[in-house]
Amino acid sequence: MTLLLNRNDVVSLLEMQACMNVVEKAFAELSNGTAVLPLRNSILPPEGLALYMPAYLKEMKALACKVVTVYKNNPAKYNIPTTIGKLLLQNPETGEVICIMDAGYLTAVRTGAASGVATKYLAKKGDNLTAGIFGAGVQAKMQLWAIAHARKITKAYIYDLNFAALDKFVNEMSTKLDMEMIIASSVDDVLNTDIICTATSSSVPLFDGNKVKPGTHINGIGSHTPNARELDEAIIKRSKFIGDSKTACLSEAGDIMIPIKDGVINESHFYAELGEIITCKKPGRVNDEEITLFKSNGLAIQDAAAAKLVYDMAIEKGIGCEVEV
Ligand SMILES: NC(=O)c1ccc[n+]([C@@H]2O[C@H](COP(=O)([O-])OP(=O)(O)OC[C@H]3O[C@@H](n4cnc5c(N)ncnc54)[C@H](O)[C@@H]3O)[C@@H](O)[C@H]2O)c1
Repeated sequence: MTLLLNRNDVVSLLEMQACMNVVEKAFAELSNGTAVLPLRNSILPPEGLALYMPAYLKEMKALACKVVTVYKNNPAKYNIPTTIGKLLLQNPETGEVICIMDAGYLTAVRTGAASGVATKYLAKKGDNLTAGIFGAGVQAKMQLWAIAHARKITKAYIYDLNFAALDKFVNEMSTKLDMEMIIASSVDDVLNTDIICTATSSSVPLFDGNKVKPGTHINGIGSHTPNARELDEAIIKRSKFIGDSKTACLSEAGDIMIPIKDGVINESHFYAELGEIITCKKPGRVNDEEITLFKSNGLAIQDAAAAKLVYDMAIEKGIGCEVEV
């Protein structure tokens, strides 16, 4: 039998702190050599991007493959999300597919979770920090939710080109998070914060990197194809660059690939993988003046870890529907 979990089931089971805990372990497994993570396959249908993402985490006994698509015009054209997907979870001992689950919400939470973990390790300390969020869509909400688990955020500035999305963000998130939420009147409002997240569907840089203040931590999650970037050369050059995976960053992330191609930096600018910071192989932030940057492309190990967590909880709580496929 295979357990089917729909979006509502996943929403009812997946909490940010628990997801951050397993995502942190997954990055540690990657760094310690107990994860299998082939580079994902991608296909470019006319309207979007389709990704096929397998991973195996030996310690966590999680074997999974996700099919996810990113169609930027979905919200306006069809009133469905930009990012949608489904995931197959397998029993690593037998190979059987034990669960099929919706992976739209799971993708957003595990993407937030990676930024939450990066923020925990890399952002400067303090209990009166401010956040700046570029984007007011699905991922952006999860970014703010996650970083609020890593640091005490008292005020957040949100910037988007879409006013309806901004209103929705503030209405939804102000009931969930205990902080002041302000719709930014300019990009500069966002740049004047301690922790910046870029979570837009833009494929061109969102701001002038020379304007970012010393000590800022940035999570860049929106772009993940070689010709798209949210971050300009200036901020890449000024930052200590930590990526989710070196291989993924150097083959998928325009944010670093374009400056390398233009000769502004070379590959040695890639400082560390997040797992190397978590497992103390390399130091993270060393002072309050450094600008740290976490570049997230989204790894299948995050999905496998989050899906195993959801599945175990579903079994424990008797949630979902068993079917013979
Ligand atoms: N790194 C990862 O693991 C990961 C995971 C999932 C999605 N993503 C990426 O995140 C991005 C956002 O996904 P989503 O599901 O939140 O989409 P979404 O459509 O819900 O939200 C995107 C928002 O970005 C805004 N935007 C676009 N250009 C902008 C600009 N120049 N300035 C300010 N705002 C701008 C749009 O108005 C929209 O509100 C996509 O590119 C997606 O591929 C990354």
